[in-house]
Amino acid sequence: MSNEYSQGPDFWATKARKEGYPARSVYKLQEIDERFRLIRRGMRILDLGAAPGSWSLYALKALKGTGFLTSVDLKALSLPALSRAANFLAVQGDLLAEATFESLRGPYDLIMSDAAPDTTGNRTVDTGRSAEIARGVLALAERLLAPAGSLLFKLFQGGEERDILAEVRERFESARNFKPKASRKISFETYCIGLGFRPSGDRG
Ligand SMILES: C[S@@+](CC[C@H](N)C(=O)[O-])C[C@H]1O[C@@H](n2cnc3c(N)ncnc32)[C@H](O)[C@@H]1O
Repeated sequence: MSNEYSQGPDFWATKARKEGYPARSVYKLQEIDERFRLIRRGMRILDLGAAPGSWSLYALKALKGTGFLTSVDLKALSLPALSRAANFLAVQGDLLAEATFESLRGPYDLIMSDAAPDTTGNRTVDTGRSAEIARGVLALAERLLAPAGSLLFKLFQGGEERDILAEVRERFESARNFKPKASRKISFETYCIGLGFRPSGDRG
């Protein structure tokens, strides 16, 4: 059946421009959020690989001035209005670097990552780099996620996604991969979602 998620890529880019989002990727987060109920008012949220800032803008709108959002990216966000929100901190840095970790104020109730490497066209290289980022996100979750917290991160398929999903399953009450309909059909990205974080001391 045709619905808005079955539209072509131009549909999403145009819709994003009209609605004031700098990237079409916001509709992937919206679909995931509607399905898994990840974002609620009052939450402390960490957005990794946040530039240009669509996911961050979506999260700030959902928080409605409550809770807290920290965004991290190698690049600056391109949403000047965001920097004025009192419940928002932007950190420019590499999520894999210890120096970045030191400037993050945990714990967080939700860690979400749309971080992706610049693609080279070589699938083995690209999936390997994506897996490296995913493991970095998992390492941050281990240190920064509150008990029962949630994790969402992007991963390129064709590499280590089974092993990574197994690692998420060890740490969360439930975990699965999910490809949103707003994701381009030709894209080999998927999103991994972990719900109900169990800190290392609580694992059987
Ligand atoms: C697809 S974009 C994210 C789009 C964003 N979710 C939005 O809605 O605007 C991927 C981002 O990941 C960032 N990135 C890649 N590797 C990173 C790293 N090691 N540390 C921080 N950010 C990284 C890139 O700079 C890029 O801005």
